[in-house]
Amino acid sequence: NNSCIGLLTPKRYYQWPQTIKEIKSANEEKSSIKTRGWVKSFRAQKTIGFVELSDGSTVQGLQVIGDPAQLTGITNGCCVEVSGSLTRSPGKSQQLELKLDQPARVIGASPEDYPLQPKHHSFEFLREIAHIRPRSNTLGSMIRVRNQASNLINQYFQERQFQLVHTPIITASDCEGGGEQFQVTVPSNQQQQQQQKQQQQQQSSHFFGEPAFLTVSGQLEAEIFASSHGRVYTFGPTFRAEKSNTTRHLSEFWMVEPEMAFINLNDNLSIAEDFIKYTVKNILEKCPEELEFFNKRIDTKLFERLNCTLNNEFIRLPYTDAVKILNNSFSSKIKWGDDLQREDEKNLITHFNGVPVFVIDWPKQIKPFYTRENDDQTTVSNMDLLVPEVGELIGGSIREERYEKLVQRIKELKMDENSYSWYLDLRKYGSAPHGGFGLGFERFLQYVTGLQNIRDVIPIPRHQNYCKF
Ligand code: 4AD
Repeated sequence: NNSCIGLLTPKRYYQWPQTIKEIKSANEEKSSIKTRGWVKSFRAQKTIGFVELSDGSTVQGLQVIGDPAQLTGITNGCCVEVSGSLTRSPGKSQQLELKLDQPARVIGASPEDYPLQPKHHSFEFLREIAHIRPRSNTLGSMIRVRNQASNLINQYFQERQFQLVHTPIITASDCEGGGEQFQVTVPSNQQQQQQQKQQQQQQSSHFFGEPAFLTVSGQLEAEIFASSHGRVYTFGPTFRAEKSNTTRHLSEFWMVEPEMAFINLNDNLSIAEDFIKYTVKNILEKCPEELEFFNKRIDTKLFERLNCTLNNEFIRLPYTDAVKILNNSFSSKIKWGDDLQREDEKNLITHFNGVPVFVIDWPKQIKPFYTRENDDQTTVSNMDLLVPEVGELIGGSIREERYEKLVQRIKELKMDENSYSWYLDLRKYGSAPHGGFGLGFERFLQYVTGLQNIRDVIPIPRHQNYCKF
């Protein structure tokens, strides 16, 4: 079956065939082209048939043309290999198309009930066929934008001498203190129950000897490495058992978390702003076809919004002023000390004409234990970045580096001091002022694609009552 061994040359080098993107972007007529992919659409006339072939590298696939005898067995969704010459189409677009010089070879047939037909499907329907939806234009484009965004994020930090640290997925601490952790347990079938009994007699019933959870944030562990390497970041999956059935929440999402020694809040804001602008600017350059597609089909204000992000200085707004604006200019009933609701976030963004807004210096009681107390003793040195359509994109802060203050806060909140002894040690031995932030990667992708539902910017979503595969 040469569709599988076709990569290996006699010299044993792997030589990948050109992708459809590479074939099309060479932009020249050429003979002896061979490529493979999945049929997006197939139209047959009496003497000629048209296939749109996709291999996931472009929004618009490659048009393949042949006579009906060369297209026997072709159906929507089937996997094929085609060979022929690239020629300019006679039509207006003058796009390159492939004229078959031998019959298309069906590698994997696809019967009539193939769920992804060449017509408009709703996002709800596409989510039901999450295993097929990457072949659709929207999800296919999202996967490529996601790939580029991930790469650019790493590039941003690597170019600035940050160390990437892989922080653990299983942890014993609750970083955000929100009690929204998934506990890690061993399934209890009979045999394991017996083992558990034995374990209980010997030590504790927990697999790790103490309760363990899926991480809600890599921050606390990233702080360990900021205290040894200065500039670090972690980029991994995080988990929250929030029962928020919204278009902005997932149970499993990816977070980018830089953590830096020797910075203050203003530095943190400047770095976050620079990082967002760098990533947005480069995605526009790296994924022009995909972003054009999103701007045309998903959100016609996308380019306008992204340009507004690139061309304006982000607003820096103390929480106290935010409350005043909401009460004076909008019909909000927010009181000092309340968290911002989705409506409040939208209003603040409207107030600043769509320019991203950092809300800083929040009331101490609604922010996590590690946040550095300001001199007024009622607010803390932190930031939330609000952007149009998405709302909160980033949460971050300067961390409390003063040993005594941190112990006092841990006590006030009745947290278990012993469990945080390692965290306090970082303040005991060579404490340094430090801080960082967390960017929700899927919310960022919503921002740069205009996709309304967070479930459509992750390859395979996980949320309450949904864990397919
Ligand atoms: O504001 P959060 O909870 O901050 C932290 O976890 C800090 N420890 C980060 C840090 O300072 N290193 O979360 C950060 C971001 C939010 O702004 C949001 O973009 C995203 O993570 N986020 C979610 N994204 C999808 N689904 C959820 N359930 C999310 N919860 C937070």
